[in-house]
Amino acid sequence: MLSKKVSEALNKQIELEASSSQFYLAMASWAETQGLNGIAAFLYHHADEERMHMLKLIKFVNERGAHGVVPSLKQPTTIFKSVKSVFDLVLEHEIKVTNEINHLVDICLKEKDYTTHNFLQWYVSEQIEEEALARKIVDKLNLIGNDKGGIYFFDRDLETLASEGGADGGAESNQK
Ligand code: FEO
Repeated sequence: MLSKKVSEALNKQIELEASSSQFYLAMASWAETQGLNGIAAFLYHHADEERMHMLKLIKFVNERGAHGVVPSLKQPTTIFKSVKSVFDLVLEHEIKVTNEINHLVDICLKEKDYTTHNFLQWYVSEQIEEEALARKIVDKLNLIGNDKGGIYFFDRDLETLASEGGADGGAESNQK
């Protein structure tokens, strides 16, 4: 059985994963309207993964005798300045998620909830992968700058990454 403190913290994380999914979905839709189909595919895929992160938490909370609450969400930003600004936001957001996961781990240790602590290790690994991937993409975009040809090839690269199961960085498959 989860303590009130842990179940509240997990429900907050459910909300964050759900809003991450909406955030990336909005980015994907924007990219698609710009003719950036590879970037859109990558971000649609990323949005699906965040939904999976949310679902995994809901199921865990319910299995442990509490209630995973489906949150209401604010509309995310829908218009973006540039591809670079999209991925700067992705990196910034993933760093925030990592900090929240670390905070959750901390709460579990304080509450002596070793089962949830163990469950959260999957998220700890996932965040390492997701942050590293976002950093790699931002570095690439820094190299490309304003070169339109560069963006064209970048878009193709992300399409390949999305079709290979891209945005999870492999942490999910390592756990199966
Ligand atoms: Fe589920 Fe990318 O945080």
